[in-house]
Amino acid sequence: MAHPALRSLGLAERNRLFAARLVHFLDDMTLTEHRIVNVAAQVIAENRLRAFIPEVLALDALKLYTDEGYHAYFTAHASRSIRQAFGMDLSDGPNLKIATLEALVADTPAERRDMAWFMVGFVGETMISKAIVDVMRATAHSGVQGMLLAHLEDEWVHARYFAHLFEHIWPRLDAGSQAFFGRLLPRIIAAFHTWDKGFHQRILGDAGLDAAARDRVLAKVAGEAPQTARMRGRCGNTLQVLERCGVFNDEALREAFVQSGLIDRDRMF
Ligand SMILES: [Fe+2]
Ligand SMILES: [Fe+2]
Repeated sequence: MAHPALRSLGLAERNRLFAARLVHFLDDMTLTEHRIVNVAAQVIAENRLRAFIPEVLALDALKLYTDEGYHAYFTAHASRSIRQAFGMDLSDGPNLKIATLEALVADTPAERRDMAWFMVGFVGETMISKAIVDVMRATAHSGVQGMLLAHLEDEWVHARYFAHLFEHIWPRLDAGSQAFFGRLLPRIIAAFHTWDKGFHQRILGDAGLDAAARDRVLAKVAGEAPQTARMRGRCGNTLQVLERCGVFNDEALREAFVQSGLIDRDRMF
């Protein structure tokens, strides 16, 4: 919003742009809760990872499943209220991030798919708190802030739960599985940050920017360097869990994270 091409926008246009981004975030969150996180929760709740997780921890996944269902409900409700207030249409096109995550799991061998879903849940749930905090900082509306805070309080618990499960699972994986999932993890982190160029083009166009101005604004935020910085800013908690579990002690796995731009070769974060 600080880009020179956006400085000429009036208050109403700026508010509309903020609202469009907030609706996009909320709609993405609604889908992520029930299409992504709750698939991981189902895998755990059905005890499909019984070789790695005690049953009592599997039972807790049903509580998380309920939380996420309610988050999806109140997030969708808030999105609808904002759309109505600003006269925005419902955007029900495909969500690139969800499609990328689902394709990533679908590409894994069938016998590894349950664990791949767990890894997706682990990454998403250890990153989401930071994403919510970032949006709270960019929002002045007290009702929206209250809703996000209620969500955040649950997500702190969920992040601890998934971190605890990962600590159970990682040392019990055989060397081949550690090699496989250790390389999958940075790809999952990247998939969670899939950039929706079409959406950003559209909202900037709605705000009255011509194609050249849109490209100038998006070049600042959509390039490889800013995208990598965005990923690193969000996944600190995830990387800390991986470090605690010794994932980066493996040279090849450490290199996979370095190549993804998530850690430096000579320094951790
Ligand atoms: Fe949630
Ligand atoms: Fe959650």
